[in-house]
Amino acid sequence: MLNIALPKGRLGDKVYKVLAEAGYDCHEAFDESRKRVFESTDAQVRYFLVKPSDVAIYVQHGAADVGIVGEDTLLESGAGVCELLELGAGRCRKSVAGKADFREDPDRSLRVATKFANIAKRYYAGIGREIEIIKLNGSIELAPILGLSDVIVDIVESGKTLKENNLAVLTEIFPISARFIANKTSYTFKEDEVNAMLKALKAAAEGERA
Ligand code: PRP
Repeated sequence: MLNIALPKGRLGDKVYKVLAEAGYDCHEAFDESRKRVFESTDAQVRYFLVKPSDVAIYVQHGAADVGIVGEDTLLESGAGVCELLELGAGRCRKSVAGKADFREDPDRSLRVATKFANIAKRYYAGIGREIEIIKLNGSIELAPILGLSDVIVDIVESGKTLKENNLAVLTEIFPISARFIANKTSYTFKEDEVNAMLKALKAAAEGERA
C-alpha cells in the first residue's frame, strides 16, 4: 500500500488532473466531500488530503510515502525528503509585490509581510537588505493596503489578486512548480511502487508540457 499526501485547494485542483492522467484518479472521491482519506484497493494506494504546507511534513515523517507539494512550500519547510520530479503543473512566481508607486527608504528596514518567512529572509539576506518579517497566514495583499507592511513576498499566478487590490509585482524572485516527493525510507523499502508512480507521472507531466 502506497500512502500519498496531496495538497488541498488550488494546487490540488491542478495536480488531480496530472494524477488522473497517470492512472491515479482520486478527484471524484474528494470532490464536494469532507473526506480526508480515500483508499483505492485496486490500485493499492491510499490518498490523504492535507494543507499544502503540511504535505512535506507528512512525507518527511513517513506518515505518507510520497506527496505532491509546491516547490516554495518545500523550500520553506526545509523538509528532508527525496525530490523526484517536477510535475509541470502549478506554475507560478514567487514575487515581491506592493503598491506600484512604492519607493524604498534605504535608511530603514523594509517591512515584509509573508507566509514564507524563510524564503523571504534568504532572499533579502542574499541582496544584503535589512528587513522586518511580518508573518501572516493568508490574504497577504491586505498588509501593504493597510500599512501593516511595505511589501509582500507571495506567489503570483494569474496576477488577478494583485490587480484587484491595486498592487503590482515589484521583483520576481524565482519561478515555482509542483514537485513529486518521497520519504527517504519509503523510497528504499517501497522502491518498485514509488518508481511505478514516478514513471507514470513523468509520462503525464510530459503530456502536460507538450
Ligand atoms: C494565493 C496567493 C495570492 C493568490 C495569487 O492565495 O497568496 O493571494 O493566490 O494568485 P493569482 O495571482 O492567480 O491571483 P490563496 O488563494 O492560496 O489564498 P490565501 O490568500 O488565503 O493565501
